[in-house]
Amino acid sequence: MLSTEDYIRLSIQHNLFWIRIMKEHAIFIEATMPPPGRQYALQAGRFRQNYDRLMRLTIRLSNGVIKADDLHSGQFYTQYTLEAERQTQVSTGINIDTNLTQMEHCIEPYNKSLPINAYMEQSVGALNENLLSLTNSFVRFKAELLELRTTCGLFTMMYTADIEHVLLEAQRYQKILVGLQNRVDLTPEDDIIFWTQNMAGHAKVMRGELDPTQGVLINQANAFANTFDTLANEEISGCNNPTDSTLLTETQDIAGFKAMVTQDLIHCKVQAILLSLYTDHLLREANHFIWLLK
Ligand SMILES: [Fe+2]
Ligand SMILES: [Fe+2]
Repeated sequence: MLSTEDYIRLSIQHNLFWIRIMKEHAIFIEATMPPPGRQYALQAGRFRQNYDRLMRLTIRLSNGVIKADDLHSGQFYTQYTLEAERQTQVSTGINIDTNLTQMEHCIEPYNKSLPINAYMEQSVGALNENLLSLTNSFVRFKAELLELRTTCGLFTMMYTADIEHVLLEAQRYQKILVGLQNRVDLTPEDDIIFWTQNMAGHAKVMRGELDPTQGVLINQANAFANTFDTLANEEISGCNNPTDSTLLTETQDIAGFKAMVTQDLIHCKVQAILLSLYTDHLLREANHFIWLLK
């Protein structure tokens, strides 16, 4: 059973990470949707706006809740996020609320004691309920897209594997929110396998969306895909289970790779059909895994 303090802190921490992840999935779905899927692009746009609204509330509730180290762990935003958002808005025409990112930069860290009171607890509870209901809908929406994509009922420029990937992440967040609302400690048992496979998935999408002229980067992405596939297989089989320090080193390496590609995309030094906000998103997920491992 979570104490009220842990309930508030864990809720804010997970929501700050996951809301941004969810709203960016909506952006990526919207950005890769050709005209026949217009209705789906519009729906994705509404999910983005609803997550934005709840993100603003979360940020308002965050002051004094999260420790400075956690705030600056690179899982909520990175040094590239703001610029990546500006560029992605120009590239896709999708309106991205950069104000929220600026607000995140100003969140005050935890200071000795949490501002716990009945109002705070109630506000967090209501926020989690709204997020759960929105995420339940988003899971259904992504599952529908996946079904349509795999049965050729809808063509999008997003890989099928990536639609499945974003669906699995939404289901993960759903599970975490249910845990929070039941006040149970919620680290899912398969967290390590989930994030190891997630890193392999990122490397494969990067490998496939780099321009064919970018041989060196494609080979690097391929090597990361192989490394994380091997690690995930070892974890699943239970034989030669990788140590946390091996996972940490490999994840720090792939985070470095994602950071470099993000920076090069921002400065137009790499050719790809990757948005800089997309690789920044992958970087934040790697930073989240690093944070979990520590
Ligand atoms: Fe994601
Ligand atoms: Fe991911």
